[in-house]
Amino acid sequence: MTDTVAQTEKKPVIFSGMQPSGALTLGSYMGALQNWVNLSDAYDCYYCIVDLHAITSRQEPAELRRRCLDQIAQYIACGLDPAKSTLFIQSHVPAHAELSWILNCYTMFGELSRMTQFKDKSTRNTDNINAGLFTYPVLMTADILLYQAELVPVGDDQRQHVELARDVANRFNGIYGDVFTLPKSFIPEEGARIMSLADSTRKMSKSEPAGGCIYLMDKPEVILKSFKRAVTDSGGDVRYDQAEKPGVSNLMTIYSVATGKSYDAIEAEFSGLGYGAFKTAVGESVVELFRPIREKAEALLADKAYLVSVYTDAADHAARAANKTLRKVYKKIGFVAK
Ligand code: TRP
Repeated sequence: MTDTVAQTEKKPVIFSGMQPSGALTLGSYMGALQNWVNLSDAYDCYYCIVDLHAITSRQEPAELRRRCLDQIAQYIACGLDPAKSTLFIQSHVPAHAELSWILNCYTMFGELSRMTQFKDKSTRNTDNINAGLFTYPVLMTADILLYQAELVPVGDDQRQHVELARDVANRFNGIYGDVFTLPKSFIPEEGARIMSLADSTRKMSKSEPAGGCIYLMDKPEVILKSFKRAVTDSGGDVRYDQAEKPGVSNLMTIYSVATGKSYDAIEAEFSGLGYGAFKTAVGESVVELFRPIREKAEALLADKAYLVSVYTDAADHAARAANKTLRKVYKKIGFVAK
């Protein structure tokens, strides 16, 4: 099915990935998933659960396995249609690891040494600075180039990696002719940076302490409680001002994305009402936004056979596209055809 659609319409290709290293959060929903859904009609989208990337930090095997399934279910529950987008698991398509090795030989040690994420991660986790952490951006380059992706929707923290992918593609094309499409990152402005509810200077992520991070599958009581406790400031007016009122501004962004209301409308709505009423309203808007998603994801997770069919078909489809690129690369390099 997906094959015919992709081939007859020839839409431009999008590739993006998310690590199954933790449960999906409000940040991943508003910063990435919503955007993935919006792009899924106009583009031929490959959305990948990057389990090969996840093992650059130690994972508990049973947890890793469960989170990959959860993630597929949640992607679909958020509105991604497996008949339109290719929702697959990275380790199911061996071409990722294969092209990654090849591209290791076309990526410079110096380039990888300059990656800020590597520098960050290796200073924070001194007990496990493995070679995979260092070559992580090469695997990401392989992900993108295998599908000839033009656009790569990512968060700001991945911009440098996409630039590297472009540089490596350029270098390879310079030697062998036009093999790879040059990718560009696509960074959405709206809702792109949802901050922790406990500390508005930090991005909302799974490493946040309890209450700072809202999960897609959280129960309503948990969501409401976290919003009631969200940090604000000593003032009382609901006004958008990132520098002076980062906590309130973050809550306004969340409310705005959840309800579609503008900042002006939100200021007017809560004028004179104080933070208590505002925080309750934000919490309720997120509960309502997530309720149908959670219910749909739970139903999908109860139908394991369906999920298996989704990721199996997707892996077949992805492998066909990826192998086409890989064969071309092997030929250009001078490997003997088998
Ligand atoms: N490194 C990305 C992240 O942590 C995930 C990722 C892996 C990715 N491969 C990719 C994103 C390819 C875009 C394209 O967010």
